[in-house]
Amino acid sequence: MAAGKVEKYKSDGSLGGNALEWVNARFPATSLWKEHLSEYYAPKNFNFWYFFGSLALLVLVIQIVTGIFLVMHYKPDAALNANGVPVAFASVEYIMRDVPGGWLIRYMHSTGASAFFIVVYLHMFRGLLYGSYRKPRELTWLFGVGIFLVLMGEAFFGYLLPWGQMSFWGAQVIVNLFSALPLIGPDLSLIIRGDYVVGDATLNRFFSFHVIAFPLVLLGLVAAHILALHETGSNNPDGIEIKANKDANGIPRDGIPFHPYYTVKDIVGVVVFLMVFSAVLFFAPEGGGYFLEYNNFYPADPLKTPPHIAPVWYFTPYYSILRAMVWNFFGLDAKFWGVVAMGASVVIFAFLPWLDRSPVKSIRYRGPIFKTLLTLFVICFFILGYLGTQPPSPMGELVSQICTLFYFGFFLGMPWWSRMDKFKPVPERVTMK
Ligand code: HEM
Repeated sequence: MAAGKVEKYKSDGSLGGNALEWVNARFPATSLWKEHLSEYYAPKNFNFWYFFGSLALLVLVIQIVTGIFLVMHYKPDAALNANGVPVAFASVEYIMRDVPGGWLIRYMHSTGASAFFIVVYLHMFRGLLYGSYRKPRELTWLFGVGIFLVLMGEAFFGYLLPWGQMSFWGAQVIVNLFSALPLIGPDLSLIIRGDYVVGDATLNRFFSFHVIAFPLVLLGLVAAHILALHETGSNNPDGIEIKANKDANGIPRDGIPFHPYYTVKDIVGVVVFLMVFSAVLFFAPEGGGYFLEYNNFYPADPLKTPPHIAPVWYFTPYYSILRAMVWNFFGLDAKFWGVVAMGASVVIFAFLPWLDRSPVKSIRYRGPIFKTLLTLFVICFFILGYLGTQPPSPMGELVSQICTLFYFGFFLGMPWWSRMDKFKPVPERVTMK
């Protein structure tokens, strides 16, 4: 039945016409359309978790378009204006108060950053649920981890631009961390800052990274991510390779054309997402101080350190891991090990395809060990995230150390525990529950 529909769609002439033929003779428009949309066969059992890839694309577009408009009015300048306010901070206030629709564009961008991380975290979690990182999708996953790292850099550089108290002191704390690296540390942090203190040079280079260097890399990685996925074909909630079972025309029996079936399904996701996004945007754009920290409504003041400096929520799990390291080992101080643990806590995701040795991919056919450990991992991630927003305390330190231990144990023990589980038989064909 799926094949019949495709034939009708291909021959109904809706894409035909002379102009298209002219283009096709010069650019593979129709063949690209077919390869990636109308004849890209995706498993027919996609569920809720498969909304987040297209939503990540949507948020990427929102960030780029709103970013273009922000740059029209924003000025990366740390000098003080006639009112004694840094020019960069004042230019953001100007966007918020005087530029027509400027408040909306700015809030779409700042709330959009948090939306990006929410969507990407859910997208990655889907990968864990269904073993989407496993063979043959290792490269799709590795490009994804690359995207995640670049996204973190992009968000970090962007947060300095409003030149508020948290922008300034957050950058100060994080850039100083690099100085803990042996040998190269002090020079590296000097290069990142462009000065001995966070200042105008830092602001200008962060602006340059934020508006051009990182978005370019991000776009390249997203293209590679989708090309790699379309080479292997998508995984699905059953973790079955649909290409292993094809009909006489070579079409996977459990596949349906991405367009129109999933383009229409994804539009539903887009509509729901935009409703939730608008609700936050119009009623709580600062997300209760989590999306835009209240201290960032004060201009940067190098002479006034805020009593409690915390990064934005999406960095706090890693920040907690950094703070959990309080011991000096091998003649290197705790700060160094904190940086190493923080870096490792992100990079370790890249090794998942090789750490997971389970004979089945999807959680549907895995046993209680996986389900329990994954649940505990998520709980630890939330606890670490919460503790990272709080001022340091002896209890918080102990809990974050326990969670950090579990966090790394989850990954490092995986080659063993992933094989020990009780598995259910995997069906031949996808199921539609
Ligand atoms: C800007 C960020 C990203 C964008 C725009 C993006 C886009 C997409 C799209 C459109 C898909 C296909 C639809 C879907 O399966 O939901 C996809 C699949 C996938 N993505 Fe991403 N992605 C992003 C970040 C990431 C990250 C950070 C990871 C992991 C670290 C990741 C891992 C995957 C995997 C494993 C698949 C295949 C899933 C499957 O077939 O089950 N992606 N991505």
